[in-house]
Amino acid sequence: APQGRLSGRKVVITAGPTHEPVDPVRFVGNRSSGKQGYAIAAACRNEGADVTLISGPVSLPAPSGCDVIHVQTAREMMAATEQALPADVFIACAAVADYRPAVETPHKVKKERGGLTAIDLIENPDILATISQLDVGRPQLVVGFAAETDDVLGHAETKRARKKCDWIVANDVSPGTPSMGGDKNEVTIITGDDDESLPMMAKDMLGAHLARRIADKLDQG
Ligand code: C5P
Repeated sequence: APQGRLSGRKVVITAGPTHEPVDPVRFVGNRSSGKQGYAIAAACRNEGADVTLISGPVSLPAPSGCDVIHVQTAREMMAATEQALPADVFIACAAVADYRPAVETPHKVKKERGGLTAIDLIENPDILATISQLDVGRPQLVVGFAAETDDVLGHAETKRARKKCDWIVANDVSPGTPSMGGDKNEVTIITGDDDESLPMMAKDMLGAHLARRIADKLDQG
């Protein structure tokens, strides 16, 4: 491992979307590219951390030196996260599907046999809220993301309080912003005492910045 400010630290990161099966060939999911989570994983690794990256389905190469665990569904992501603990830091960057189809049909739904005109949905586990509220083995620093389209900071602060994570990285994903799928991001890091609004920057740069801020925080104890 490279020597750096996160040497000896374990970091667990979720990234990408989740795919929730409808039948063997169909899923409910979202358009997350996974780029920001992968960039954070690589940056933490460059600072010397032992990194486990729990990734939904994306088309990105594995960041070198990270343990990558591939999952499809929110429930698999939850289980993989619990297995990856204990850790010093947990970063929930994944765009987890909030809901999944209530039933997964074991064979392909056929149009000729009535087809699929509606999907009953049930709520998925909230990985960030669960890890933030662990009584035993909660990581020292838990960081969530909040992609919002309006009142970005207000909604993000409410989310931080509700889920009980330590920091929320808030970004504006309104149409026309480059965050979703692009290579740049413009965020505010909400820490409760020392919020930081950053200019638009490459996702790699933001990853490096976050890794430094995390190292600062862990150094403070
Ligand atoms: O509630 P919302 O999905 O906007 O919250 C976003 C944050 O919560 C992100 O950090 C995301 O990774 C995390 N999350 C999660 N599990 C879910 C839903 C969201 O970890 N089921």
